[in-house]
Amino acid sequence: MSAPRRPLVAGNWKMHKTAGEARDACAALAALVGGAPGIDVAVCPPFTALQAASEALAGSPIAVYAQNVHEADQGAHTGEISAAMLRDAGAAGALVGHSERRAAGDTDDQVAARVRAGIDAGLLIVMCCGESLDTRRAGDTQAWVTRQVRAGLSQATAADVDRLVIAYEPIWAIGTGETATPEQAQEACAIVRAVAGEVVDGQALRVLYGGSVNPANAAELMACPDVDGALVGGASLDPESFAAIVAAAS
Ligand code: 13P
Repeated sequence: MSAPRRPLVAGNWKMHKTAGEARDACAALAALVGGAPGIDVAVCPPFTALQAASEALAGSPIAVYAQNVHEADQGAHTGEISAAMLRDAGAAGALVGHSERRAAGDTDDQVAARVRAGIDAGLLIVMCCGESLDTRRAGDTQAWVTRQVRAGLSQATAADVDRLVIAYEPIWAIGTGETATPEQAQEACAIVRAVAGEVVDGQALRVLYGGSVNPANAAELMACPDVDGALVGGASLDPESFAAIVAAAS
């Protein structure tokens, strides 16, 4: 039997907080979260605040992840950031394939290449997937998520399992206050785990739920057997509400 999966709670700040604001939020968060025994906690500030966040969190167990990473080591890629640059700024991980990035043009092939490049550079990669409301209403959630997970892991191998996390984030639940029910989250996260299990040890892989997670609903979502934590957007901007979600995971 595999070891129990260690929960992960990550806060995606999206395009919020300057470096100074990030420093203040991280100092507050470190004081509120304390040692966080038994769980992993991370914040994902914008690129410009990575360094400030990692300095403010030095000595705390809270990690810093970026919100995206480019697949190339370096080169003529105006506006992009490499994995080595992220590590240099103090990031230990990165999100890849968030639906807001996909809506801005990131393709399945880029997602797969970024998963590969990020892991190769020593980052923990949180690969995101999730269906739109139209897809859910059409009854195509399973097919959609299956396709996204297979595509995203098309360059991954079994050896990547410790550096890979998959977040199921239904687009209709992101920023809408319309959280998936625990049953919907469980069903989709189980599909993610089964499909990812074609490449990595599914029982060892951590699968997160994201989409309008807040202090009131976090515990019941994370109690689902295939939900190993949360990727939190809006509720992660306030250190007290994010700390309450972290407490719900522990
Ligand atoms: P909200 O928690 O604001 O719905 O955002 C979820 C999300 O997109 C996290 O990556």
